[in-house]
Amino acid sequence: MDNELHNALTINSIGYYRVKGTTLEERCAPLNEYGELRTKYGINSYGYAVLHSPVAPYVKAHLTYDPEQKIDEFLNFSSQDYMGMSQHTEVRNAAKQVVDELGIHTASSPAFTGRNYMIERLENKLSQTLGIDQVVLYTTGWMACFGAINSLAGENDIIILDAFAHNSLQTAAKATTKQIFKFRHNDLNHLEEILKKQREQNPQIGIFIVVESLYSMHADMIDIQRFYELSKTYQAILIVDIAHDFGVYGEKGLGVVGQLTPEQRQDIVIIGAFTKAFATNGGFVGGSNTIRGRTMLFSPSYTFSNSISPLQTAVALKSAEILFSPEGNKIRQKLYDNINYARKAFTEAGFEVIGNPSPIVPVVVGDGRLARIIYRENLKQRLLANLAEFPAVPRNQSLFRFQLMATHEKEHIDEAVRRFTISYHEAKKFIDENCEN
Ligand SMILES: Cc1ncc(COP(=O)(O)O)c(C=O)c1O
Repeated sequence: MDNELHNALTINSIGYYRVKGTTLEERCAPLNEYGELRTKYGINSYGYAVLHSPVAPYVKAHLTYDPEQKIDEFLNFSSQDYMGMSQHTEVRNAAKQVVDELGIHTASSPAFTGRNYMIERLENKLSQTLGIDQVVLYTTGWMACFGAINSLAGENDIIILDAFAHNSLQTAAKATTKQIFKFRHNDLNHLEEILKKQREQNPQIGIFIVVESLYSMHADMIDIQRFYELSKTYQAILIVDIAHDFGVYGEKGLGVVGQLTPEQRQDIVIIGAFTKAFATNGGFVGGSNTIRGRTMLFSPSYTFSNSISPLQTAVALKSAEILFSPEGNKIRQKLYDNINYARKAFTEAGFEVIGNPSPIVPVVVGDGRLARIIYRENLKQRLLANLAEFPAVPRNQSLFRFQLMATHEKEHIDEAVRRFTISYHEAKKFIDENCEN
């Protein structure tokens, strides 16, 4: 195989994390060359499509590496709008109205005058829905993750994270303490081994367990009761990031934390994001009244950042009103019909689908080279589905994340399977012809 093609298909970003050199040119050029190499072969999947229309099952977009920037129609399975709230008329109207009511900018940190009545209303709506004392709103979900960990834990504490925990949680842990442990993904036995040893050696130290309720790469959920029980056995504090299933999963839409009793929910720290089901940027940290002061005052991403904007707040509030109403139940039903239909359709077409039924339908390809060419073929097929490759997933366990929305219809799913099957066969042919095993 041509050496350059081989590199384009196999090199990954991990070797570029560490930077060397004294000038910006020296420090940045290697990564730029790596990006350019992938772009040359049409397999640069970073920020690949630029949208010219609102999120919907079909979107208009141009591809970043197309010199003509031709706008075309794409079948869209790449958006995080699981419940279709960004496409809901009432949510869009709420966004329009708030501009007249509260303007467009909070123009201050919440430590000064950045809070408004709609922020309070949304905080109340979320805490009532979750059955907990209170929540604090952040401008992004990422900032909520950072703020929760960095304000509640300290440099002498121990943080134990799931190995696949989101970047925001890992970065927060690193910025907080040097005493970080990771347990094998979703492996309660491994977590218990670490907990037992650390608690015996450090009877007085704060120990935090950090997990997600639904992991977005492999669509697997946690057994939250068992995590809760472990946290109690070893006097640890459980932090659960519910970004992907809040508003989406379970009879009332509470997600996996809905399986806890209200007393148990009150006894953990909950972090949420609005970006997956609430149609806007933003996030929150919730729990008992005890944590409110510390979360607000000592979260750098709260106190030292401007408040969530009126637009975000109005959209999240209207979305929450719909999501936790009888209409929300119907939308969830439609979403789960789509999810079950898609998982079956991909499986019947011969693909491996992993994880729990959730809006993330991971279709495994394995071979990283094959996955990059499928990605290229998908774009020719005008199909948008996000490629997850190493280091986001383990080496040679590349997969495509088909993200389902309640606004998809069965025909969209059939069409996605049809296009993806063509991409797969074309890519397989290319790899067989161009690559040795
Ligand atoms: C589990 C998890 N937590 C936090 C975040 C960050 O949320 P946001 O995109 O709202 O900043 C994400 C987003 O991808 C996520 O998947």
